[in-house]
Amino acid sequence: MTTACPTLRVADFATESIAIDQLATRGYVIVPNFLAREQCSQLYHYAQHLEPQAWQQAGIGRADNYTTNTAVRQDKIRWLQSDFPYENAYLEMMDQLRLDLNRELFMGLFDYECHLAHYPPGAFYRKHLDAFKGRSNRILTTVFYLNSDWRKQDGGQLVIYGDNGEVLETVLPEAGKLVVFLSDVFLHEVLAGSRDRYSITGWYRLNTSIGGFIDPTR
Ligand code: OGA
Ligand code: MN
Repeated sequence: MTTACPTLRVADFATESIAIDQLATRGYVIVPNFLAREQCSQLYHYAQHLEPQAWQQAGIGRADNYTTNTAVRQDKIRWLQSDFPYENAYLEMMDQLRLDLNRELFMGLFDYECHLAHYPPGAFYRKHLDAFKGRSNRILTTVFYLNSDWRKQDGGQLVIYGDNGEVLETVLPEAGKLVVFLSDVFLHEVLAGSRDRYSITGWYRLNTSIGGFIDPTR
């Protein structure tokens, strides 16, 4: 990639009162054009051209409980790090959104961690919660999609479920779209698709560190 790394700028979220209201009242929101097309396609290009070694098989659980279980999830991930310019640009943008959310919703979000995810054709992530009530400091999940020209027949939808197991939303992983939801409330799953599917999944967290111990470790 020859172009300089962009500074990523949200195309209107916190000032977008509908998005904030929906997040506050329903606990989730879908923002179709969170990032401008050009910025999104640069990130897409970056993700598609990472070396195979840049990725690791995704696991479930944390620290001592961490296992890879391909019956549950089959994506490959890469935790974003601030010393890689494209990754830093995304982290900085999401940190700005953190401040906006704290200002608008008094959420007290302390930090943010996120990873790129690559689902090869056929890969899925079975129904799960990102956090368990009272047992995690993950508060808000964000999923941002990079895939241009994604069509319904490509599959790979994110399905979000309600309290009674009903389908609330079936979301196509289309470039530029951001989904935000409460991490310990909404069961969700990723259906298998027929194309390579790229996204950036992240979590805003509360600070539950005690005596310098960051809980939970990655
Ligand atoms: C996750 C997840 C959803 C998606 O990584 O925990 O649920 O649509 N991702 O990629
Ligand atoms: Mn999830």
